[in-house]
Amino acid sequence: MSEFKTIIYEKRGNVAWITLNRPDKLNAQNTEMRRELIRALEDAWKDDNVRVVVITGAGRAFSAGADISEFPILTPADLVKRAEIIRPYELIRNMPKPVIAAVNGLALGGGCELAMSCDIVIASEDAQFGQPEVRVGVIPGGGGTQILPRLVGEKIAKEMIFTGKFISAQEAYRLGMINKVVPREKLMEEVNNMVNELLKQSPIILAFAKMAVNKALETTLTEGLKCEVDLFRLCFSTEDQKELSKAFLEKKPPAIKGR
Ligand code: COA
Repeated sequence: MSEFKTIIYEKRGNVAWITLNRPDKLNAQNTEMRRELIRALEDAWKDDNVRVVVITGAGRAFSAGADISEFPILTPADLVKRAEIIRPYELIRNMPKPVIAAVNGLALGGGCELAMSCDIVIASEDAQFGQPEVRVGVIPGGGGTQILPRLVGEKIAKEMIFTGKFISAQEAYRLGMINKVVPREKLMEEVNNMVNELLKQSPIILAFAKMAVNKALETTLTEGLKCEVDLFRLCFSTEDQKELSKAFLEKKPPAIKGR
């Protein structure tokens, strides 16, 4: 879709690829990029042929966060009106399909939040993560104060958010923020391996699994377990559940339909 200026949006097979494309500004997210991201994510959500989404960055950064050049003129009233500030993160989290972040370099501020909102994060070993918003007079606004403590615990999250210091991809892996760290030249190979693993699964069952795990981050254990059992039961209403269990028992490859 060539109408985008700040991202590249491509569909290949069952995969939608979104590349943040302002490399000269380290893929800082300005209003136009956020609006384009929303359009691309909404399209990927609606398109039944798209079963996995991958987000990456052009150049040496994944994204250096919000475009600070817009900050001096923004007012609280502007921010109330601008749903696009957090909408991309909400779309990624709620979309009933897996979204992979292929973190090719710096993931700071909104870039770190964008990666954290994805279901699976694979980073190159030269990537760095951080929430440096305090250094420009704000706090994280795309989920950083809520998601990061859930991933790494309160103390590490507060240290990162209070100091703005960056951590290496290896450290992010050790802390449980990301799934995998690979040499830069292997990043896309590893992402493709993950994509292929996900494409083998039933999309409807993956959607239920994503809903159930998301629930774990936002509710009590009792409510979460209730949600899980409801979704578990719902699996039995799908054709894929019948097909997958039958194929296992008959030792045959399954014919997944996605319903
Ligand atoms: N918003 C707007 N522009 C940004 C940006 C951001 N978040 N991050 C980087 N850029 C721009 C720089 O202004 C520079 O533009 P210029 O060449 O027109 O001057 C270009 O991207 C390259 O960045 P530069 O700072 O020269 O690269 P560096 O390697 O020396 O430093 C960083 C990289 C990431 C450490 C540094 O750019 C930085 O601290 N960026 C801000 C990160 C941040 O605070 N994000 C949270 C925002 S709320």
